[in-house]
Amino acid sequence: MASNSITVTPIAGSLGAEITGVDLRRMDNHDWAQVHQAFLDYKVIAIRDQELSPQDMMDVGARFGEPNHYPFVKGMDGFPFLFEIVKEPSEKRNFGGDWHSDTTYTKTPPLATLLYALETPERGGDTLYCDMVAAYESLSDGMKEMLAPLKGVNSAALKHLGGRKTHHAAVGGMKITGTEDADSYEAVHPIVRTVDETGQKAIYCSRGHTIAFEGMTPEESKPVIDWLQAHATRPEFTCRVQWKPGTLTVWDNRRTMHNAINDYHGMRRHMRRLTSGPTNPA
Ligand code: SIN
Repeated sequence: MASNSITVTPIAGSLGAEITGVDLRRMDNHDWAQVHQAFLDYKVIAIRDQELSPQDMMDVGARFGEPNHYPFVKGMDGFPFLFEIVKEPSEKRNFGGDWHSDTTYTKTPPLATLLYALETPERGGDTLYCDMVAAYESLSDGMKEMLAPLKGVNSAALKHLGGRKTHHAAVGGMKITGTEDADSYEAVHPIVRTVDETGQKAIYCSRGHTIAFEGMTPEESKPVIDWLQAHATRPEFTCRVQWKPGTLTVWDNRRTMHNAINDYHGMRRHMRRLTSGPTNPA
């Protein structure tokens, strides 16, 4: 069945790899083992030259686990877990343009996000990723000890961006929904989480979603949260995926953050997203 000859090429020093030579619609268990190993090794994999229907994307996502529901964008007809990320040439704001890991404000946030490029701008529109394992490992022993017992309160409110309703209202090309309930989405997760398959520890905290450490005020917590984000996004902990139509990038939300660069005004970008593999970080 399979006729794949898979090549995995790292794209940066810390994380990220490009995969060529695989057709994800025709993948046997041996192919999947290589793709999955690359995902474990590099945390972010950009798989080139795919032709994926919505059902194909659901099938690839199922390899990572059950699909997750995203509360703030309507799903596609017949595919409630898939949604379209669109920025039209007339729009100024993009979706996901701030460092974060996906939906950490839910009780069981996703293991993986799959993002498939349908239409990409002539230039720009890349996505940045950072390595939360490398960021954790480079901390001093004193900082690791301080973080070990801490839990983060994660909220969907996006207060730092003026509130989710206002923020998403400006993402005009997308089917935004339910943002009036954003403040009710809150979940407490460890600031340092351990990843099952690799045993690695990763910082699990972002300025966008983590509003406080449990038992502390937002004012007390903010300086440390801000510092952790500045540390984790140092250039040497990052990689950058340059999209082309047909690229499927899969990232590990337990061990990375991402940030969609908004540098392509006047051009169209159209992606399709699925999150898979609900996890319980606690
Ligand atoms: C997201 O945060 O899911 C969007 C990422 C992107 O569009 O590059």
